[in-house]
Amino acid sequence: MVTRLALLGAGRIGKVHARAIAGNGQARLVAVADAMAEAAEAIANAAGCTVRTIEAIEADPEIDGVLICTPTNTHADLIERFARAGKAVFCEKPIDLDLARAKACHEVVKQTGATVMLGFNRRFDPHFRAVRAEIDKGTIGTVEMVSITSRDPGPPPYDYIKVSGGIFRDMTIHDFDMARFLLGEEVTTVFATGACLIDPKIGELGDYDSASLILTTASGRQCTISNSRRATYGYDQRIEVHGSLGSVSAENQRPVSIELATTAGYTRPPLHDFFMTRYTDAYAAEIAAFIEAVGTGAKTSPSLEDGLIALALADAALQSIDRKAAVAVQI
Ligand SMILES: NC(=O)c1ccc[n+]([C@@H]2O[C@H](COP(=O)([O-])OP(=O)(O)OC[C@H]3O[C@@H](n4cnc5c(N)ncnc54)[C@H](O)[C@@H]3O)[C@@H](O)[C@H]2O)c1
Repeated sequence: MVTRLALLGAGRIGKVHARAIAGNGQARLVAVADAMAEAAEAIANAAGCTVRTIEAIEADPEIDGVLICTPTNTHADLIERFARAGKAVFCEKPIDLDLARAKACHEVVKQTGATVMLGFNRRFDPHFRAVRAEIDKGTIGTVEMVSITSRDPGPPPYDYIKVSGGIFRDMTIHDFDMARFLLGEEVTTVFATGACLIDPKIGELGDYDSASLILTTASGRQCTISNSRRATYGYDQRIEVHGSLGSVSAENQRPVSIELATTAGYTRPPLHDFFMTRYTDAYAAEIAAFIEAVGTGAKTSPSLEDGLIALALADAALQSIDRKAAVAVQI
């Protein structure tokens, strides 16, 4: 069976997912909708599908599932709408900017029984999966400490920041999910600091561009997260997990993996420039997992619940900054 999919939102991430669908033999992109006609047409022309309105996609019984890649403030409404229409839903992170709204959305989805998957693509990265596989095999013993470095090459446009929900709900949310993926226990407290060290205008918009966090679990396992909206040397994505018997790490990835040694020293080519190229394999595997879930009705992972918990951690981080103290996570 070929799964028939529609794309809502033809921006940065919409393009990435359209390419992932094109590379998957089990599915076909049949329609794309976007508020900007040119954006939708560009993807429709490349994919050989039609531009349609969201209403037309909703009403088409031939469409099995949708990918919601519109701005964050539209996600919860669209998830509910398409779950009620009987479609499977893949939605980009985060579910919403407001935890209460996200919870209400979760209730609606539960009532409909719809298949809903959340876009925490890093769980599908082959390198991070290999780290998790070593943990699962017991190679490093009991997990004690996780370190996540996650720095973007540069800040997004101000217009994006205004609707993004801020660094913790927009960017750190991936790291919150990765922390849960690797810690093996739920996070119970969050301590966060944030500042604008790159661009004061980001602060005027009520956001931070640099943040450090310490997450702890009930048994005392710890995770540190280092976030910056600027890394002059490329997209900096590293993870280390330290356990009772050893440690396992995933280093930065490069489009070309060589090392040059001369009398001047050692040099290596630049890192990937951003998420579109660094996580190409992860996005392809993520979309393949969604397509499989649509076809088989299997439970999705990451689920909407995973999205709720990550959002609760983001809220705790914001409260921690306000209170200058560690904050208990409340879901
Ligand atoms: N998982 C990831 O790695 C990842 C990466 C980037 C973005 N995202 C998430 O994806 C979402 C989109 O981000 P982006 O960077 O692609 O944004 P973007 O601004 O590049 O694209 C959004 C698109 O949605 C369209 N749009 C806006 N409102 C619409 C509406 N009501 N109906 C239809 N189309 C509408 C816009 O015209 C635009 O083309 C955000 O929620 C973001 O958090 C996830």
